Amino acid sequence: MKNSVIAITFMLLAACSPKEPGLKDTFEGKFVLGAAVNVRQIMGADVKGDSVLFRHFGAVEPENCMKSAEIMPVFGQYKWDMADKYVEFGEKNGLEVYGHCLIWHSQLTPDFCYDKEGNLIGPDELKARMKQHISTVVGRYKGRIKGWDVVNEAILEDGSYRQSPFYQILGKEFIPWAFQCAHEADPDCELYYNDYSMHEPGKLNTAIEMVKDLQARGIRIDAVGFQAHIGMDYPDLDLYQGHIRRVKDETGIDVCITELDMSILPTITRSADVSMTREAWQAALNPWPDGKFPQEAQDAWNARMGEVLDMFLRNSDAVRRINVWGICDSDSWKNGWPIPGRTDAPLWVDRNYNLKPFLHKYAR
Ligand code: XIL
Repeated sequence: MKNSVIAITFMLLAACSPKEPGLKDTFEGKFVLGAAVNVRQIMGADVKGDSVLFRHFGAVEPENCMKSAEIMPVFGQYKWDMADKYVEFGEKNGLEVYGHCLIWHSQLTPDFCYDKEGNLIGPDELKARMKQHISTVVGRYKGRIKGWDVVNEAILEDGSYRQSPFYQILGKEFIPWAFQCAHEADPDCELYYNDYSMHEPGKLNTAIEMVKDLQARGIRIDAVGFQAHIGMDYPDLDLYQGHIRRVKDETGIDVCITELDMSILPTITRSADVSMTREAWQAALNPWPDGKFPQEAQDAWNARMGEVLDMFLRNSDAVRRINVWGICDSDSWKNGWPIPGRTDAPLWVDRNYNLKPFLHKYAR
């Protein structure tokens, strides 16, 4: 009797032991596993989320707090509070700390590229402002951020450059300039180009050309970030794997999976069936408005995410980091985007803070 009580006590202690391996331990040597964190997690207001983070993840990305409009609401006027707390949070908890993002057309400081009259500024002025912003932010966290997304989403699906204000003023030269400024501000920091829909051949071709151009000029770039906001019906995983391999084989640099999530909901296609009523169309796009996903849909999601992870594991020589875009499903930006009012379940951890079944063979 006494022995069995002791044995049970040991089993319970082992089950609760903080040393029990988490996902980050299982994948050690394959890739670093990270998650995007929001203000609640950084401020310690999400105790359950933080405990999942510390147990299973080895790296963090800031979901919003380092974007230019957040950190610098008016050009030259910085609000460091949350970004400082983010970096301290990562360091205090032994996580690799990444930066996202320096130059992006979205969540952009409104007057970054404009003069007082609202006109686009000239090329010299923009170069000076980019240098000022990049050296201020990268310089502030010098030696503390492992890698920065330097330029985000500059290329469209067809391979043409996005007509962002940066591009309108400087053409594609804004890209090498941003990388050069970031490297000068922290020469030891890894630097990345980051984009979504990297399964689109046109986008990939231009990204590879851009990397080669930077390399030919001797400008540092360490990896291409594949955001990987994916769906149940895209991308084709053989194609995606092929694109990861192309980056590695054609440029020699790695891929980081930077914003992984996979919507369980129907994909929005641009071509609506014109004979459908608005109500029928909305019902088709939002079949489970109460967030109660049928078992079948959850099984299909787990099966596909398992295949996605297997593919990354098979290519771990080229994929140096996987970062999921949020800790648990209720955190995800995909709730309500791109269609308001939907409840999604795109992440690795469910709303009850449990790892999803496809991960159970690695950790519980
Ligand atoms: C998203 C955040 O998750 C949301 O909270 C915010 O409202 C909009 O931006 N590509 C990126 C990320 O590079 O920064 C975006 O994050 C998602 C798309």
